[in-house]
Amino acid sequence: MQTRIKNLLVEKPVDSLVQVAGWIRTRRDTGSFSFLEVNDGSCLANIQVIAEGGLANYETEIRKLSAGCSVQVEGNLQVSPAKGQDIEILAASIIVVGWADPEHYPLQKKRHSFEFLREISHLRPRTNALGAVARVRSRMSYAVHTFFQERGFCQVHTPVITTSDCEGAGEMFQLTALEAGTGDPCGQEFFGRKAGLTVSGQLQAEVYALALGDVYTFGPTFRAENSNTSRHLAEFWMVEPEMAFCDLVGNMRLAEELLRYLLGDVLTNCADDMDLFDQFIEKGLLAKLRGMTEQEFAHITYTEAVDRLLQSKKKFEFQVRWGVDLQSEHERYLTEEIFRRPLIVTDYPAAIKPFYMRVSDHGRTVAAMDILVPGIGEIIGGSQREERLDVLTARMQAAGINISDYAWYLDLRRYGTAPHAGFGLGFERLIQFVTGMANIRETIPFPRTPGFAPC
Ligand code: 4AD
Ligand code: MG
Repeated sequence: MQTRIKNLLVEKPVDSLVQVAGWIRTRRDTGSFSFLEVNDGSCLANIQVIAEGGLANYETEIRKLSAGCSVQVEGNLQVSPAKGQDIEILAASIIVVGWADPEHYPLQKKRHSFEFLREISHLRPRTNALGAVARVRSRMSYAVHTFFQERGFCQVHTPVITTSDCEGAGEMFQLTALEAGTGDPCGQEFFGRKAGLTVSGQLQAEVYALALGDVYTFGPTFRAENSNTSRHLAEFWMVEPEMAFCDLVGNMRLAEELLRYLLGDVLTNCADDMDLFDQFIEKGLLAKLRGMTEQEFAHITYTEAVDRLLQSKKKFEFQVRWGVDLQSEHERYLTEEIFRRPLIVTDYPAAIKPFYMRVSDHGRTVAAMDILVPGIGEIIGGSQREERLDVLTARMQAAGINISDYAWYLDLRRYGTAPHAGFGLGFERLIQFVTGMANIRETIPFPRTPGFAPC
């Protein structure tokens, strides 16, 4: 059984026989032996393997190894006399498992652009940067579950196929069952009504919050948003907690605690990968993230935010006006230039927010909160939910929503209603923030954007 390189580097069982299996990054020959750099994906570091000329397949195979070939190595782990690594393997045998024709293997030893790597999304996890992103993403997913489970939240698997458009923004992908074949364009004959891919698990999470108290859902969500930006995907993952007997203040507290926890976790547990991002992707990233774990987030209402933006005299592409949603350029100016730290914006105009948000007493605003972070803008969107049956019904009617489709949602207010609140953390925006990646397409293994879904 082979050992993972990550474990070898931690345990360093010097002077023992070890086996590793991985892919060649480089081969360098000197005199009668070769140095192989082998990476197995368990960590950023490669292990150096020394292949001496006396190995049976030295001339026939080892001297033909090139980037991308897969090998199994057995040998003695020894302290490396040379600079660059503490330990290395003196190979007793090297089995070539798979060749990679150097004429055609696309990942040669040079810096490739992320745009190019996207075109080979089946090979890009073999690069340092995308391998590091994959490990950070996995760790962050684990930390999300740890955070909620440690606090007694119950995970709810909300459906991917849904008949309710939570955000009401008309961005739902619709489902069709071609096999059914009667020209029904929206899968109506299969489910008996229009169905699509979920844009958010929130409405179903509310059902479980109003039974189990504190719940969360964490899964893929889909939006047919035709925006080709560096922060939008058609398929992305969202972390959505929902808490019963909770108001906007409790909601903000949880969101801030979650973000701080996740940043602290990645800094501690992905140190090598994070160093790579700090060095090659965003200079100063580590200092920025550490600062965030220490500093309290700033708070401001939407109305104050609009005033601050107007006072700034900055020329924006989109004009700032009360009642109009903040654009990304406004969000970034607030968090990057005015506050220079994460910022929670609350109490947005009711008219620009979805039907489920709790209306304030004067009716002009809702108990909404967005969290904005430098470099990204909005990373979290959430609110206290409208728990009053009459107010919710009136708001849904005003929004042109067919009340009978949402009878179940209204029942939650009819029977044992309670104040409740929750939010959605865009998982890829989180990964973008912690890795410093300029484009969100580098944060998910197989990005889907308008016109792009290769494998
Ligand atoms: O602000 P949004 O639309 O909120 C909701 O969907 C609520 N129902 C969540 C809730 O209260 N349970 O989306 C939440 C977050 C955004 O702040 C953003 O980080 C991310 O999801 N997001 C996207 N990420 C990538 N690509 C897209 N197209 C995204 N749209 C939203
Ligand atoms: Mg939002």
